[in-house]
Amino acid sequence: MKACVFDAYGTLLDLGSAVAPHAAILGEAAAPLLALWRRKQLEYTWLRTLMGRHADFETITRDALAYALEALGLRAPDLEPQLGRAFRMLDAYPDAVATLTRIRAAGIRTAVLSNGNPDMLGEAFVRAGLTALLDQVISVQPLGVYKPSPRVYAMAAEVLGLPPAEIAFVSGNAWDAAGGANAGLHVVLIEAPGTPAERLPAAPMARVRALAEVPGVLGVH
Ligand code: 2OP
Repeated sequence: MKACVFDAYGTLLDLGSAVAPHAAILGEAAAPLLALWRRKQLEYTWLRTLMGRHADFETITRDALAYALEALGLRAPDLEPQLGRAFRMLDAYPDAVATLTRIRAAGIRTAVLSNGNPDMLGEAFVRAGLTALLDQVISVQPLGVYKPSPRVYAMAAEVLGLPPAEIAFVSGNAWDAAGGANAGLHVVLIEAPGTPAERLPAAPMARVRALAEVPGVLGVH
């Protein structure tokens, strides 16, 4: 394996950290809000790709947030702009730094392939302290289509100058893992124990419980 490419949101960056600072205001609505916000965000990427009506990921993220807040009847003043900003400043998962460091030390290039706008990703990785550990950050934005279009994963291989068979792709999103495997990447899916396998046409090479297990799967010790 010459390169290890990571998904961003829900893989290196912890989505829960978008709502955690607002726990006092949100109370028990924090978890349902995050779940609906994320579900709508992803649906809008898929629907807009199918409709041929691209909007950048920041716009989609804010549209999904507005929908989720209205659906749950959450109307606290300033909540919407504050949560919108929080999505640009997510925390890394606690094992992200050690995982990326180990993989790079083994001579494997590290990269990100994400739906995020280049500016959102740049800001998030600086804030999360991961910038120096990533050789490349690849945004789908120039393509104008979102994951899991095969064009997205093919673009990563092209940018890296490697055949898909030389690239590992790590994602905490099962549908994204299927997309990467469908495009010929060697996929490592991070998932909670007991999660059923997706009934989609391409399966991951390995299923692990945390980022910290990824180096071992790649043969890095
Ligand atoms: C990504 O970072 C949306 O998690 C997905 O591309």
